Amino acid sequence: MEARYDFTSDNTAGLCPEALTALIDASDGCCPSYGEDVHTARASDRIREIFETDCDVYFVFNGTAANSLSLASMCRSYHSVVCHETSHIETDECGAPEFFSNGTKILVTSGPDGKLDCAGIERMILKRSDIHYPKPRVVSLAQPTELGCLYAAEEVREIADLARFHGLRVHMDGARFANAAAALGLSPAELTWRAGVDVLCFGGIKPGISLSEAVVFFDRGLSEEFDYRCKQGGQLASKMRFSSAPWAACLQDDVWLRNAENANRMARLLADHLRVIPGVEIVRPVAANAVFAVLSAAVQTRLHKAGWRYYEFIGGTARLMTSWRTAEEDVVALAASARGG
Ligand SMILES: Cc1ncc(COP(=O)(O)O)c(C=O)c1O
Repeated sequence: MEARYDFTSDNTAGLCPEALTALIDASDGCCPSYGEDVHTARASDRIREIFETDCDVYFVFNGTAANSLSLASMCRSYHSVVCHETSHIETDECGAPEFFSNGTKILVTSGPDGKLDCAGIERMILKRSDIHYPKPRVVSLAQPTELGCLYAAEEVREIADLARFHGLRVHMDGARFANAAAALGLSPAELTWRAGVDVLCFGGIKPGISLSEAVVFFDRGLSEEFDYRCKQGGQLASKMRFSSAPWAACLQDDVWLRNAENANRMARLLADHLRVIPGVEIVRPVAANAVFAVLSAAVQTRLHKAGWRYYEFIGGTARLMTSWRTAEEDVVALAASARGG
């Protein structure tokens, strides 16, 4: 029996064909290194184009680096970052945000489906204002959340207004921003800087459009000396063109959105197939490309026996992720295994 990783994570899928072709094309000939190349300029320009603003763009190797280096850039060592208790920066980055910022503290609050709410944020901001407590400086939210849910643009705006009112800045972990943009059907600008986001970590890896993440500074004042942070943090690619060329290709002709739309559509289809199976309960809204389900012991045994691998610790339930390459027959095959067919 062969193990199947199709729904384990959107990390298990490879690069989409357009990204792969761009990678091969970029390999031809010699060009300047460390981001001085034409591919990196093109990718950065394309990001500025789709966000309709003159933002600063940097490419780094993964989401942990994108989040932690950008937060370090927004904070001083005695500051704090308010985020959800399930956020990646709190639970899955091995303390990198604190490490790269030389001690900035992560302050967590709660809310359904991984979403922050204004009351919880304000409680954390106002909890202490004395000199003995790290000063809140940033609100960080994930779009979509780690539990597969979305903030409406208006909700982002309310959080950003609250943050501004208290003198804080707004960071968005957009490891799956493509899925959010595809699901919400709004422009990248409306979902970010027009709603008050200062810095976006724009995921390229999970949507299969690159081997890198883009750190996008809408407030360019926050990117001061970010190139040095990247270099010191081991995140300045010498052959940067391999990080950036796929971005340029996939931000063309909406490839990135089509990939994300497929993942989102397959998640909805998967949920539809699963929810009618006895012993399966879909426990969270399926808003982007994740399906969270409580599975009976019998269903779990059938899935494991058929080789399906999935995470069970994220959100306390089974998490099934879809990707740009998930096909209807993959969904049907998993559902058949769950049913015992
Ligand atoms: C919400 C979120 N942010 C960031 C990341 C990026 O993490 P990594 O450092 O593994 O690329 C992930 C990956 O699972 C994620 O789910």
